Amino acid sequence: MLDSWRGTGTGAGATPAYEALADRIRLLILDGRIGLGVRLPAERDLAAQLGVSRTTVTAAYAELRERNYLSSVRGSGSIARQPHAAVPGDQPASGLLDFSKASMPAMPELAAAAVAAAQQLPAYLGDSGFDLVGLPVLRQALADRYTARGLPTEPDQIMVTLGAQHAIALLARTLVARGDRALVETPSYPHAMEALKAAGARLVPVPVTTSDGWDEEALEQAIQRTSPSIGYLMPDFHNPTGQSMPAGLRERTLELAARQGTTIIADETMAELDIDSPERMLPFAAYGGVDTQAILVGSANKTVWGGVRIGWIRADRSVIARLVRARSSGDLGTPALEQLVVTHLLGDYDALLRSRTRQLLAGRDFLTAQLAEKLPDWQVPRVSGGLMTWVNLGAPLSSQLTLAARTEGLQIAAGPRFGIDGEFERFLRIPFSYSEADTVRGVDALAAAWRNVGRHTQAESGWLAEVV
Ligand SMILES: Cc1ncc(COP(=O)(O)O)c(C=O)c1O
Repeated sequence: MLDSWRGTGTGAGATPAYEALADRIRLLILDGRIGLGVRLPAERDLAAQLGVSRTTVTAAYAELRERNYLSSVRGSGSIARQPHAAVPGDQPASGLLDFSKASMPAMPELAAAAVAAAQQLPAYLGDSGFDLVGLPVLRQALADRYTARGLPTEPDQIMVTLGAQHAIALLARTLVARGDRALVETPSYPHAMEALKAAGARLVPVPVTTSDGWDEEALEQAIQRTSPSIGYLMPDFHNPTGQSMPAGLRERTLELAARQGTTIIADETMAELDIDSPERMLPFAAYGGVDTQAILVGSANKTVWGGVRIGWIRADRSVIARLVRARSSGDLGTPALEQLVVTHLLGDYDALLRSRTRQLLAGRDFLTAQLAEKLPDWQVPRVSGGLMTWVNLGAPLSSQLTLAARTEGLQIAAGPRFGIDGEFERFLRIPFSYSEADTVRGVDALAAAWRNVGRHTQAESGWLAEVV
């Protein structure tokens, strides 16, 4: 995790080593790579590992203690903690632009849909309201949508959840036994990896790059050699690279997975945010034969609004039954009103999505132009869907850049947040879902931060970034 912590600065004016080290550890704590309550290595061990003097590590830890990122407990060493102001889910400090979230403001049609849903609500008020699988009208509407998109589906194959993250966590704790292997892409969506690890999974990484997409050989070998119990994939659009998996590879993956007893979970949270793909993809499970199994995860939270918190799982009835049994230890169902809101919007979903993807097309092209003008050395891949791009900085400076960006008023997740072992220091995920004004502000902040990379960052209140 401390690769390249020193950055590039040397000589007069460079950040002293202890400050650079403290800065890097602070970032690791803030963005969740070092969990709260985790014990840091003893000063002597870390000094030996990094090849620095013990005084440097002592001074770095002292600074972190001073700023409330470490507490020292006699006999237990130095424990990562959060400064008083940093509560998970806190809004960023006022004035900070938040690019750690790839999201859009609500669809303009949402308010009217909520009014229509409120008018339908009285018909639902007669029973208990506890609903572990979803309202029949919404399950029907979601099943119809899969069917229309090329995957025949019945309502009893759908469970409505509190968003895609809830779906992933529920699937993980239902399908993964402690010690099981779980195949994941690298880079991948951090909160999904966290859910898999929390369920006790050992992650088996398979690379995805912006130039070549999925490493087919690695994917096939990983399934064959490790027989993971599940594979968590984002066939389109992959977060953070924006890639879409070719049809042939979908078929081969499903076949191989069936042979090895691996259940594929395809997270299609962004599948319908297709800006200009050359090929319109079917839902992932449509690429399999009768013997293959793919569980699909979907969400209205990227398309409609993050605040509706409606997602769903499409799976065999037997899997849905297992999920229903497992669910109540964590939550007792999805709110009715929000389900009615989404049901209402699904009535005209294609038209609504068209206006969303038009916005995203403009956003992608605008961000690309801004970066070409202000950060011409960065490699910006072209993506054909989703809300983000995965930029190659050309140097392993992502963590330092994100620290410097904060002092320029921008919160953004460093590349390694999307890896398993601290890799991806050369990468940065940048969303193109923001307004032109915010995109200009964000890119200006990145350009200023890039010039300042390696210089000591200002003291600031803590934050803990959720990455969405
Ligand atoms: C790939 C992916 N899966 C799941 C989620 C979580 O989605 P939800 O807001 O529906 O819980 C996100 C949100 O960022 C995501 O990008």
